Amino acid sequence: MAGFSPPDDTVLDRLKAIVGADGWRAPNEAARYFDDPRGRFEGRACLVLLPKSTDEVARIVRLCNETGTGLIPWGGGTGVVAGQLSPDNDNAIILSVERLNRVREINAQDFAMVAEAGCILENVHAAAAEHRLMFPLSMASKGSCTIGGNLATNAGGIQVLRHGNARDLCLGIEAVLPSGEVLSELSPLRKNNTGYDLRHLLIGSEGTLGIITAATLVLKPIDPDTVTALCAIASPAQALTLFSELRKRLGDSLSGLELMSGFGIGLVTRHFPSLRNPFSDPHDWVLLAEISGPEGMRERVEVALADCLDSDLLADVVIATSETQRTNLWDLRENTPDANRLEGAICNSDTAVPISRIEGFIRETQAAVLATHQGLRLNSYGHIGDGNIHHNVFPPEGVAKAAFVSEHPGIIEAVRDAIDRVTIDFAGAISAEHGIGRLKVPDLLRYGAPPKLAAIRKIKAALDPNGIMNPGAIID
Ligand code: LAC
Ligand code: ZN
Repeated sequence: MAGFSPPDDTVLDRLKAIVGADGWRAPNEAARYFDDPRGRFEGRACLVLLPKSTDEVARIVRLCNETGTGLIPWGGGTGVVAGQLSPDNDNAIILSVERLNRVREINAQDFAMVAEAGCILENVHAAAAEHRLMFPLSMASKGSCTIGGNLATNAGGIQVLRHGNARDLCLGIEAVLPSGEVLSELSPLRKNNTGYDLRHLLIGSEGTLGIITAATLVLKPIDPDTVTALCAIASPAQALTLFSELRKRLGDSLSGLELMSGFGIGLVTRHFPSLRNPFSDPHDWVLLAEISGPEGMRERVEVALADCLDSDLLADVVIATSETQRTNLWDLRENTPDANRLEGAICNSDTAVPISRIEGFIRETQAAVLATHQGLRLNSYGHIGDGNIHHNVFPPEGVAKAAFVSEHPGIIEAVRDAIDRVTIDFAGAISAEHGIGRLKVPDLLRYGAPPKLAAIRKIKAALDPNGIMNPGAIID
């Protein structure tokens, strides 16, 4: 965080006065704000502020802008690229939106909800369900991530295939700009071509251009029929053949398509012994598919999968027949990130390539990683319907992470570099849904096209000339 010195006591006192006695935490009583979900960093800050209104956020930002004080926006703390924490120094202030947690309005006719940034994603789901509607953004961290963080990072997750990323599910935004001005565009308009769309500039900006305080979210009808099936397949290529066959037969009703490997399922069931692999035979790859639509969809899916089985497009299939079975299948997928962490992952990628190139991408990434060190193990899994694969790399069987990393200095960087290079060779993105944060700034600088980097710098300088907004994130 170059260029910042810590705010003096007068500034700190004025900031505390804005939020009141219960609206701030001293660093020594704020451990949760410094936690990295993957345990690689420990964040630092000189103060944590918990404003409870947009007006308080605006007053904080204005004061920080006047005094050249760095601000790190904080949602649920679930980001995995250190966008919400600064391990470098404690000069900045964390601004948590957790107390901005009201659903301001649900309008079923508009299929829209206005939710404040600190609303936890699962609470947004529940609020929509009360109106027999749904908000389709979903991911494993739904119980603690916030809608503000989801939008700031343009989060993806497990239903992007049909419903899009956070960006596609947001009709309007309220945000405090670095000047302290409040941009308020919350009308649930489906069409609005009145100049630059600042909503889309702020979404995915990771708190570097302003702080999102509320948003108007897209709600959708709940499909009467949802079918969840786990398909055993021979290869990622076969997953794509199956995908295209199911799409041909069932249209756009596929809402989730998650690739997992036999190795990955083995990790999840080992670290979470209550979970079961429903297949008794070993399979190299499995595909978790979710399809939802009007009544009758179940019969159509059953016929389609039976035909695919007959024509050897899949080796075996389990179709959930109850909500419990459905949850059991999803638990295998949703516990994968934790299983990777418990197994001692030294690297977790968030890479996207064109769907048509997935097979070669997985094969060549595995080869490139093994070329850095024979014996490394890979769990390549993820949102194959979006071309978004997470490669997780582990030390050889029986070798502990700490010992391996200290015996092989530079191995983490070498593995990350190998994955990045293959990703770029396959016309891919080194960050698909997690963002750049602080972790991937060097990667963006290395692989981002110069005109893009120059434009990012100009936009940042124009909107945040004092560089107070999430300093050190996205671009240095
Ligand atoms: C997942 C997270 C890591 O899909 O994005 O498991
Ligand atoms: Zn993911």
